[in-house]
Amino acid sequence: MAKPIEIAQVTYAAPDLKLMEKFMTDFGLSCVSNKDNVLYMRGSGEQHHIHVTHYAEKQRFIGASIEVSSQEDLIELAKLEGSSVMQPSRELGGGYEVVMTMPDGFEIKAIWGREKHTKATERSAFEFNNADHKPRLNECIRVKRQPCQAIKLGHFVLHVSNHDASVKWLEERFDLLHSDYFVPPGEDGPIIGTFLRFNHGAEKVDHHAILILQSDWVGVHHCSFEVIDLDAVMTAHDYLVDKGYQLECGVGRHMLGSQIFDYWKDPFGFRVEHYTDGDMLDHHAQPVKFNGTATETTQWGMAPGLEFFQ
Ligand SMILES: [Fe+2]
Repeated sequence: MAKPIEIAQVTYAAPDLKLMEKFMTDFGLSCVSNKDNVLYMRGSGEQHHIHVTHYAEKQRFIGASIEVSSQEDLIELAKLEGSSVMQPSRELGGGYEVVMTMPDGFEIKAIWGREKHTKATERSAFEFNNADHKPRLNECIRVKRQPCQAIKLGHFVLHVSNHDASVKWLEERFDLLHSDYFVPPGEDGPIIGTFLRFNHGAEKVDHHAILILQSDWVGVHHCSFEVIDLDAVMTAHDYLVDKGYQLECGVGRHMLGSQIFDYWKDPFGFRVEHYTDGDMLDHHAQPVKFNGTATETTQWGMAPGLEFFQ
């Protein structure tokens, strides 16, 4: 079983790469390359690229790439039924990959050995002067309404036709732990959603890297980019409002994972999220079942509309 290190990228197809580049730049990513019908966007973290769009007449979600810890992980994954051989990546940045296909057709690539960038994050998080702890002294907060920097791809969420089969497929390939579950409102079961995190033992990891949701509709729900702090979320929000982009839901704080979130739609209707201040877990954390309503998934801030979960 492969040890996952990071959700390295999400991959889409769309009919206008210039338009996608413009939006993703305003959303806080930077263009690595936009030629030969492929757009590569990076964050300010080390991954060579985190959002890729291939030119196609009709938009669609293609899949995601997961960085694994070693080439041996790729060799093991290549032995599984349905996997490609381990092969040199044809993407910018090089490295090696094993291409796999989830039960509903999403392409999942395990990658290793890709070039990394030096971190290019422009500022550290502002210290927050809470009532009982005030670390910021003789320093002002001054921040502009401008694109924030998306640092890394934190997670992606899939609607699938068979929740249990998709979770099993992922667990057969990657070392994952269950963080929390969705069950129908007011019920004890069945489990219709599972938040999955990477198993790094006693090291802390994000509450979830992948969320799998049972659904009548199969596709990507959203992908999510971590930003430096709350001021980055809020100023980017104002900037995107000023630009006339389509806000979907935000700003607010989630229940499961506790992230402060802000959801937008890209020009092709794909949902993208900024987040900060998510829960960090180690291998001791145990999952709980959440059986609240859709509205109750938001603790404060803008609650999602009904169509958000469809
Ligand atoms: Fe999210």
